[in-house]
Amino acid sequence: MAKMWAGRTDSVTAKAADDFNSSVAVDGRMFRQDIEGSLAHAEMLAGCGIITYAEFGEIAEGLKGILADIESGALKIDPEAEDVHMFVEAELTARIGDAGKKLHTARSRNDQVAVDMRLYLREESAEVVALVKELLRAVLLQAKATKEFILPGYTHLQRAQPIVFAHHLLAYAMMFVRDIGRINDAVRRMNVSPLGSCALAGTTYDTDRTFTAKKLGFDGVSMNSIDGVSDRDFCVELISAFALVMTHLSRFAEEVVLWTSSEFGFVELDDAYTTGSSIMPQKKNSDMAELVRGKTGRVYGDLMAMLTVLKGLPLAYNKDMQEDKECVFDALDTVKACLGIFAPMIATMKPHRENMYRAAGKGFINATDLADYLVGKGMPFRTAYKTVGETVALCIKEDKTLEELPMEEYKKISDLYDEGLYDAISLVNCVRRRTSEGGTGAASVNRQIAFVEEFVK
Ligand code: ARG
Repeated sequence: MAKMWAGRTDSVTAKAADDFNSSVAVDGRMFRQDIEGSLAHAEMLAGCGIITYAEFGEIAEGLKGILADIESGALKIDPEAEDVHMFVEAELTARIGDAGKKLHTARSRNDQVAVDMRLYLREESAEVVALVKELLRAVLLQAKATKEFILPGYTHLQRAQPIVFAHHLLAYAMMFVRDIGRINDAVRRMNVSPLGSCALAGTTYDTDRTFTAKKLGFDGVSMNSIDGVSDRDFCVELISAFALVMTHLSRFAEEVVLWTSSEFGFVELDDAYTTGSSIMPQKKNSDMAELVRGKTGRVYGDLMAMLTVLKGLPLAYNKDMQEDKECVFDALDTVKACLGIFAPMIATMKPHRENMYRAAGKGFINATDLADYLVGKGMPFRTAYKTVGETVALCIKEDKTLEELPMEEYKKISDLYDEGLYDAISLVNCVRRRTSEGGTGAASVNRQIAFVEEFVK
């Protein structure tokens, strides 16, 4: 196929080489950003007297026509094109002739890739942030409804201490709040215009990079033309932020899978977000949660692939970098799809208060509170810890809970035990008395809810 860059070579490349080289199937999705960047560039060229305003007018009209035609479906992005940048430029020249050939003055495709990616990822990141906020709203909805649902909190997946379900859910809310912070940080660092780097060394034309940067909504201009076109650290940062979103989703997903099992029975998912088995009629599977957990690996893989593409690349642009899009788009699509399904799944799930409470009644999760009770009577904590350990052993032997063990049995172990202990170890009181900042007590839970509510506004 003959190329726009024909000249040095006869440009007749093998079909297999064309196919291997082409990135249009992947970068075609950036056609809007490519046209937006070209419009700003052409206006700058006219403003600097490098092309005439009449030529800019022709270019702008041509580019807007192409945009409208791609959007309406009248123009299909040619799958044989080398990439979206070549496609748009070739189409422009086909439509308007010589003026189209002037568009690429004082610009390189390396600039275009670096600009288009930033514009595209800036927009898409805002969508990811909006999706995370949607999930936060779902978490809030459930948290507000479960402020008094007592269940065991776990460490090592062993019942540890009583908490309320809202507190557990809000732990995830805090993670997602930080995820949004990380995405926004990455976008802020990324939002610098490389346009006008001109392949790598800058240009002899008297251009105005600040003009195009402003026009495209960048906060500034990259200070070094080599850096501007040859780093993809912003892709690494974004994928890394997405990977952490996936980590948090995956842990949450795993808990949903556990909670919906008959062994736990803490939560029931809405039928709309579950599947059945082809053979076992009783099954209601948490496929959405499992898939989210499963897809986490893809995003980790994208991050590793992106880092590896960059490792050892000499400055400036190398074709290896074309692979950046496959990594970052896959991570982006995956995180969006996962958030998109997770938020409504959480919003519609039904927490089962009784099952949670029943689980909380087993496993001696109020043992710490019993020890604290003895401390209140003057016993040193380490001694109290040991005394309660012996009490638990006695309960196990007699197949009783701490609440069920009669006072005369308690007295056999320690004189400091008295009737007040039953009140101290009631699960409701255990939760109520955890008033420390950030704890599972009501005031702290309400503060967290208010904070997240304010955040998603
Ligand atoms: N499609 C390519 C990419 O995404 C553009 C290549 C630009 N530069 C070059 N000198 N070949 O990286």
